[in-house]
Amino acid sequence: MSEGASATLGGNGGEPASSTARLDRFLEDEHPPTPCLVVDLEIVRCRYKALREAFPEAEIYYAVKANPAQEIIAALAELGAKFDLASSGEIEICRGLGIAPERLSFGNTVKRESAIAEAFGEGLTLFALDSAAELEKLARRAKGARVFCRLLTPSKGAEWPLTRKFGCEAHMAADLLVAAREQGLKPVGVSFHVGSQQTDPEAWTSAIAHAAWIFRSCARRGLALDLLNLGGGLPAHYRSNVPPLAAYTETIEEALGREFGGNRPKILIEPGRYLVADAGLLRAEILLISRKSRGERERWVYLDAGLYNGLEETLDERIHYPIRTRRDGGETGPVILAGPTCDSADILYRRHPYELPLALEIGDWIDFLTAGAYTASVASVAFNGFPPIQSYFV
Ligand SMILES: Cc1ncc(COP(=O)(O)O)c(C=O)c1O
Repeated sequence: MSEGASATLGGNGGEPASSTARLDRFLEDEHPPTPCLVVDLEIVRCRYKALREAFPEAEIYYAVKANPAQEIIAALAELGAKFDLASSGEIEICRGLGIAPERLSFGNTVKRESAIAEAFGEGLTLFALDSAAELEKLARRAKGARVFCRLLTPSKGAEWPLTRKFGCEAHMAADLLVAAREQGLKPVGVSFHVGSQQTDPEAWTSAIAHAAWIFRSCARRGLALDLLNLGGGLPAHYRSNVPPLAAYTETIEEALGREFGGNRPKILIEPGRYLVADAGLLRAEILLISRKSRGERERWVYLDAGLYNGLEETLDERIHYPIRTRRDGGETGPVILAGPTCDSADILYRRHPYELPLALEIGDWIDFLTAGAYTASVASVAFNGFPPIQSYFV
């Protein structure tokens, strides 16, 4: 890709293609200091509308953790989005923007008790849980609130798996929901998350089947549930191809029809990455290019952005960002990409080699595309004295 040429992202499967043209114009006009994240709000809006159209029956709760910038939240709020929140801090951002508490869900299954009380006092009425102890906290501090229980699911097929940290087994989920009713809460349904950047639509199939089992188990005990939260997991367009959005919605529709027939619950989804990742571009500068011995082919390319200031999702080389440079088009050679800190773990890609132009020079910019999610907000405060990455919105 040559200098000034815009890239195309995410155009497969009938989804609106995203282009970096507006971001390129901003970078050319403004020359913001690097490292920086630039987000095209129009792409965020397009993604929301595409999802709305593809999945009209679902209520869309944007998972704010993916990128909590006020500009993004405000743009989505204007389109009617609701919001999945992880903490009091995220609640404060949404409430500060005037978003009504009925549009907010406190989706973290690990909450400080005072945060539950504060949220309930603020008017939030929808809370997640996955354990008896969290249920007790909710019963003490949010009597009458609607609660859903998170089901443990395998993250197979996800490029950013969620391990066993969240959710509980189906039998326990059914018991917790019944207990919630006994403790003065309003158990409404089940949630799950099949793992982030989920490349296999079938991951939703078995999760929906397990959720349906919980619905039936609760019904047998006289508890009617009516909400199914399909979580996040819809993918963005990194280096490898992913199925189109339609493959996900069709698989989900089929599973819902099979498991629930004409008795379908209210459907929620909580996309994070899908809505914002493709809208962002992270620009870094090359600080050093070196080799470890004379004649070695592999170059070490050190950037002013790394694991601690924007590119945390390169941890274990899980997320593979598309990369472009101003020298694209010429001969290339293998590089190891590394961040600027003195931590030896601050290496972006070593096992999954990238080939970059041989003409690259110190001082050149280098762009990480599809960088709108889990970048700026995950950056450290000042590790090694490097300030958090700045965001700009187009
Ligand atoms: C409860 C919950 N919902 C939704 C999401 C968003 O997931 P994704 O970015 O994969 O769409 C997350 C991410 O961790 C989450 O924890």
